[in-house]
Amino acid sequence: VAARPEELLALAVDVAGEAGRLALENQDGIDVLDTKSSPTDVVTEMDRRCEETIRERLLRERPGDSVLGEESGSDSGTNSVRWIVDPIDGTVNYLYGREDWAVSVAAEVAGDVVAGAVVVPRHGDVYTAARGAGAACNGQPLRAARPVRLDRALVATGFGYSAARRAQQAEVLRAVLPQVRDIRRGGAAAVDLCSVARGRADAYYERGLKYWDWAAAALVAREAGVRVEGLHHAPPDSELLLAAPHDLFEELHDLLASLGADTTG
Ligand code: IPD
Repeated sequence: VAARPEELLALAVDVAGEAGRLALENQDGIDVLDTKSSPTDVVTEMDRRCEETIRERLLRERPGDSVLGEESGSDSGTNSVRWIVDPIDGTVNYLYGREDWAVSVAAEVAGDVVAGAVVVPRHGDVYTAARGAGAACNGQPLRAARPVRLDRALVATGFGYSAARRAQQAEVLRAVLPQVRDIRRGGAAAVDLCSVARGRADAYYERGLKYWDWAAAALVAREAGVRVEGLHHAPPDSELLLAAPHDLFEELHDLLASLGADTTG
């Protein structure tokens, strides 16, 4: 079923909103249900329930589409629309009753992300983007902040779940920290990317993200004028994702590349 990006976006906002309300109502008293790649990589009952809710609703409204979800993997559809879903990005924040967590839903057509919604229930924020049509937060158009020099930049980052990867990320951070205004570790990649789109951080980088962590939020950032790429200018995946307005992107890129930020460890 062909669909315009705006139609896919409306559905993304709807399903992400529904899952966000479900997660919000159940945040108190939530516990760890399971662990994944390491003991620090946790899953709650709500990650699973929210993903089921989103998947069922998407496939009910658009049978034939396929869904790739963080918790349940991918299924195969009969058309070119695929949904990329992170039911709760920032699960550790969610578990601790903190505010920075998001429901992230992106729609791909023939492999390109054309629509993305990131709902941050505890902030009351709904970030939206349709390809070529701009990005918004709660309906207000988003423009990234003007680039600042690296030594004036507030740089967000995040860490993976394996101890070896964390040790490598700490080494890189040790070299980055003295060269920037400050560092933030918010705990939800989608929220970090949307913060750059909104000018609440100047840049964001992280190694080892999964597609569902960034698919929707990278479109929001790009449509707001932020450059989002891998360190070698390939699409970001397990390589390091870097997001910043243009000049700052170059400066941070060169620093991270000189540190071998995506190659050691
Ligand atoms: C995680 C968060 C975190 C980032 C990790 C992600 P999850 O996503 O986005 O900020 O540092 O790399 O895996 O597991 O909470 O969906």
